[in-house]
Amino acid sequence: LWSNVEMGPPDAILGVTEAFKKDTNPNKINLGVGAYRDDNNKPFVLPSVRKAEAIMTSKALDKEYAPISGSAEFCHAAISLAFGEGSSVLQEGRNATVQGISGTGSLRIGSAFLAKFFPIKTVWFPSPTWGNHVPIFKHVGMEVKQYRYYDPKTCGFDFNGAMEDFKNMPDGSLVLLHACAHNPTGVDPNPEQWQAMSDLLKSKKALPFFDMAYQGFASGSVDKDAFAVRKFLDDGHNILLAQSFAKNMGLYGERAGAFTVVCSDKDGAARVMSQIKILIRPLYSNPPINGARIVSTILSDAALRSEWLTDVKGMADRIISMRTQLRANLEKEGSTRNWSHITDQIGMFCFTGMTPAQVEKLTKEFSVYLTKDGRISMAGITSANVAYLAKGMHAVTK
Ligand code: LMR
Repeated sequence: LWSNVEMGPPDAILGVTEAFKKDTNPNKINLGVGAYRDDNNKPFVLPSVRKAEAIMTSKALDKEYAPISGSAEFCHAAISLAFGEGSSVLQEGRNATVQGISGTGSLRIGSAFLAKFFPIKTVWFPSPTWGNHVPIFKHVGMEVKQYRYYDPKTCGFDFNGAMEDFKNMPDGSLVLLHACAHNPTGVDPNPEQWQAMSDLLKSKKALPFFDMAYQGFASGSVDKDAFAVRKFLDDGHNILLAQSFAKNMGLYGERAGAFTVVCSDKDGAARVMSQIKILIRPLYSNPPINGARIVSTILSDAALRSEWLTDVKGMADRIISMRTQLRANLEKEGSTRNWSHITDQIGMFCFTGMTPAQVEKLTKEFSVYLTKDGRISMAGITSANVAYLAKGMHAVTK
């Protein structure tokens, strides 16, 4: 039995960590997975999260099952954070929001819902997109297409290419958008470009599905990072949304996320909700409670919430400072390449422009681990390793 089962390849992102762990070079650096580290290269538990845990412990809460749709307090807190407290969608009760197992699990519920109820079985992703988007949607049998997004010539957003591809899509297409801090490129549309995209997609009757894994992490402001989502809602799009609290609350292993469908009215939201629950029950029955409790404890307590906002800003600022330092160190090494995109791009990642051969060399000769597409997780860079990294990057790109 199982002799016909072939060895599969390691995961494009999580496989990098597996390789890193095996390396014995004391200078090794892991810039693969997007997981925040402090300046001592240690995993960081946010002080606001520690406080929320202390509050939860003091309450001696039970361990009962959550409802199929997850914690109602969590769902309300999560979607209010995304849409804004005064959101008319929330006032009108037009959202069907369920707790998901972090970003991936929320996207997974979304893909299952779309595969069952959306008439077109094709999804349009930006090119490139997060490595897990494609398998998530392929898993439910949807066809995957790409619209132009990243322009390697400018290391920026290919706005004209994206708009042209949107124009040529069939009406009513499903379009996935990264709400902020595009993964893997760190390149986002500006507000005027978002507006133009919203107008065009509206005229094409497209269904926008926002993946928002980095709210607060891109700019340090949760409202600024929710600009595109709120703009599309204001423009009358009935969007879909996947949220993750892995990065902005550092709750990676807690798996706290949410999936939302905005409907035309309250009745539609109730019907959609009933069907999402029918999809969730045989998948995993109901979601884990701990991470959701941490999130709702923080977001529902004004003092703790403001402390959390300071924590997020601290992480965002450390990453921004590492961008400046990496660029300065490359220049100090004597690199004549244009590295301005390192400081122009935002969020957890930098799409360096290094080729797969250069990446391989950097890993082999310097024990610097990153994904083959040249993406580096800025969060793995520290004051202590930035000079060594710049030396390695210059050596493989000169
Ligand atoms: C990443 O892109 O590195 C993160 O979103 C982590 C993951 O699950 O891939």
